[in-house]
Amino acid sequence: MRIGVLLGGDSSEREVSLKSGKCIADAIESMGHEVMSIDPRHIDITLQGFFNLDKVFIALHGGMGEGGHLQALLDLLKIPYTGSGMLASALSLNKLKTKEVWRSANLKTADWLTVNKNMSAKELEAMLSQVIFPVVVKPLTQGCSIGITKAENKAQLFESVINAFEYDDTVLVEAFIIGREYTCAVLGGKPLPAVQIKSEAFFDFDAKFGSQSATYHCPSDLTIEQQKHMQSITLQAYEALGCRGWGRVDVILDENDEVYLIEMNTVPGMTTRSVFPMAAKESGLSFNDVVGSILDSACF
Ligand code: DAL
Ligand code: MG
Repeated sequence: MRIGVLLGGDSSEREVSLKSGKCIADAIESMGHEVMSIDPRHIDITLQGFFNLDKVFIALHGGMGEGGHLQALLDLLKIPYTGSGMLASALSLNKLKTKEVWRSANLKTADWLTVNKNMSAKELEAMLSQVIFPVVVKPLTQGCSIGITKAENKAQLFESVINAFEYDDTVLVEAFIIGREYTCAVLGGKPLPAVQIKSEAFFDFDAKFGSQSATYHCPSDLTIEQQKHMQSITLQAYEALGCRGWGRVDVILDENDEVYLIEMNTVPGMTTRSVFPMAAKESGLSFNDVVGSILDSACF
């Protein structure tokens, strides 16, 4: 088959996507397929390239590649593509819409409020005065923890919100849930073993990709019951958003063993350091098995 691997793009996660895409392209090539790596920053070349492809593997993180735009285009062109469709992609990339869907499905997610760049200083002040510290401040649609900071007091909160406005016009201010952090992958409609994330500092972009102070553990420290519960919540979270093919849900387990949903990733990282292949390995699946399974599920 002739497979197009879409990688790079122009979101803030471009560099991670180039790495994921390269690993995926190498795996597909090693399976004997012909691979065409396409960076959709050059949309005219992308469109020409699309017409002689049998399938497309979307390895784009964030932006229009993970947010539904590209999925809609591939639907129109009737070219099978990997992962979630247009609606689930759009909902999942928007942290507010994700939380609204989860709340309406009676799934636990931290309390939140949103602020917008168009608010006057007075409106912003009034909104932020409701906050109970500590909180986590997040741009609405960025991945890889880009622009995310923890705020312990009013001064930090204002600084964090101004910083997050650099990335998005709307910013989410979320209650900080005290607990242990995990991420749970879903492949072919089934949850994989949970991966525990340990980070000395707040788990942000630097901990993930800069200083790399975060460490990932699979098998995790969860008991069998705790893991089963987390996997069940993960699957409900994935299904509530209508995801398909594959995905990864980030969660926090609090001291009462409640699973709080943090975010849905419809195109999880697939670099050599990523947690998705790590979770798959624990289930006895190689990197090629994962890529093959995702590719098999491609549709429009
Ligand atoms: N958005 C990044 C790539 C992830 O969650 O894996
Ligand atoms: Mg993410």
